[in-house]
Amino acid sequence: MESGMRVRTLVAAVALTTSMLTGYAASQTSANKLASPESFGAIGDADARSAAIFTELGKVLTHPRCVNCHPAGDRPHQANEGRLHQPPVERGADGRGLPAMRCSVCHQNANFDPGRVPGHPEWHLAPREMAWEGKTIGEICVQIKDPARNGGRRPEDLIHHIGEDTLVGWAWAPGYGRAPAPGTQKEAGALVEAWVKSGAICPVN
Ligand code: HEC
Ligand code: HEC
Repeated sequence: MESGMRVRTLVAAVALTTSMLTGYAASQTSANKLASPESFGAIGDADARSAAIFTELGKVLTHPRCVNCHPAGDRPHQANEGRLHQPPVERGADGRGLPAMRCSVCHQNANFDPGRVPGHPEWHLAPREMAWEGKTIGEICVQIKDPARNGGRRPEDLIHHIGEDTLVGWAWAPGYGRAPAPGTQKEAGALVEAWVKSGAICPVN
């Protein structure tokens, strides 16, 4: 009797886990994962498919790991909630800080986890015209395609920049206490490539 109950409990537990796993695989839209380009194959209209792929990439672009360095103002933002940088620092003329307070004083070549300071040899703020803070994914898309606001890049250059640049890559290994950007850098690069090859269509919003 007692063992019969134990078996029933076990069966119920297995059934629950299985249904949770199936639900997980089916949704693919959980915030910290990226759907593959192939999973958009069911969208028949080519433009709609391209725009949907960009919307998926938007999960990365609007993540605090990216937006903290692509702010609208002159100060970087910090942490998962994207609060203003403490101590107050400003971009300065070259994005690397004011002469008296350079980013590299604190941000070294690599993360320094004991002090919770992120690091990379090229640590600096994205220029003002590349600000993503407060913009919709559709607006970011138009901007990211505009050579006047994207550092003169062609859409195909973005495949390499997002998929392989090591400063962008920091967002997936951000160090202690910070949530990494969704998916992997490789998966993000694959989405950019699929978006470019399908005509680089922007979502409406
Ligand atoms: C006086 C030291 C200091 C200076 C100078 C400094 N930072 Fe920071 N920065 C920090 C510390 C410490 C953290 C981590 C704070 C935390 O996560 O709680 C940080 C975090 C950040 C983050 C947040 C990363 C994330 O996603 O959580 C960004 C972005 C950033 N700094 C950019 C800059 C830029 C750009 C400059 C130069 C314009 C700069 N910092 C200058 C100390 C500094
Ligand atoms: C430490 C700061 C920092 C972080 C973190 C960061 N960026 Fe940037 N980003 C920059 C700087 C600086 C530039 C300008 C460099 C250039 O044009 O070569 C830039 C430029 C870009 C560009 C090209 C210009 C544009 O807006 O079209 C893209 C795309 C980009 N970043 C994507 C990302 C993505 C995606 C993430 C997060 C996964 C990210 N960045 C995180 C600093 C950062």
